[in-house]
Amino acid sequence: MAAEEIIAELRASAPVIGPSLLAADFAHLEQEIRRLEEAGARILHLDIMDGHFVPNISFGFPVIEAIRRSTRLPLDLHLMISEPGRYLERFRKAGADLLTIHVEAADDPRPLLREIRRLGAVAGLTLNPPTPIMAVEPYLHDCDLLLVMSVAAGFGGQEFEPQAVDRLRHLRAVGGNDLLLSVDGGLNDRTIGPCAEAGAEVFVTGSALFAHHDYRQAMEALLSEARRSLALTHKNLFQEPFERHENSNHNAFLK
Ligand code: DX5
Ligand code: ZN
Repeated sequence: MAAEEIIAELRASAPVIGPSLLAADFAHLEQEIRRLEEAGARILHLDIMDGHFVPNISFGFPVIEAIRRSTRLPLDLHLMISEPGRYLERFRKAGADLLTIHVEAADDPRPLLREIRRLGAVAGLTLNPPTPIMAVEPYLHDCDLLLVMSVAAGFGGQEFEPQAVDRLRHLRAVGGNDLLLSVDGGLNDRTIGPCAEAGAEVFVTGSALFAHHDYRQAMEALLSEARRSLALTHKNLFQEPFERHENSNHNAFLK
């Protein structure tokens, strides 16, 4: 699928859960992928860790290639690696459809984001919680996707950091509607709603999804929380003028 089609499809289906395979059972990866497909997953999130940019090591090219052979779903690679520019083409060849680099890993992310687009993939940029949001702002037009980390990159199963919600809201305001906004880390049925309300569209979820036996049910439960928050926001937006209208009618009656 072309990058534009992937973006359009994610946007049309939002809110979308991006299952993070880091929390999957690696002894039965193909089976896990099939279960996710059957549960309605539209994308798979692959966490690539090099033991240098982050202290943890996850998996590399042979595993990505094996995942590519097992599914047609878009593969969303979150590159938690130093010198990401050295490997972009190899990741693309291994089957990546979306490539997200960390702003902390690049002196100048712009040429890397351009290279990702040139390779025909969706260009993503992300930042860790301690990194000032100003670090990504100059590049909002150079990327298709902005991933807000709501935990420190490197490990699954961490606690959600609430300042991610303000970051999402700010990036939605300054990045405009063309920017696909994603959030990663500590998402569950309590934290997903505020992120949806703040403008996130793709919700990368590991432990809160894979802890359940029924992936469809778990994804639906998370998505219904996201939709509930969105519906409440819309209701609030429309309620105010409606109430004002009611009042003005009332006043007119009194005259
Ligand atoms: C953290 C990874 C996440 C992680 C999310 O470094 O980027 O994608 O797998 O896992 P949970 O949902 O368990 O926080
Ligand atoms: Zn991730």
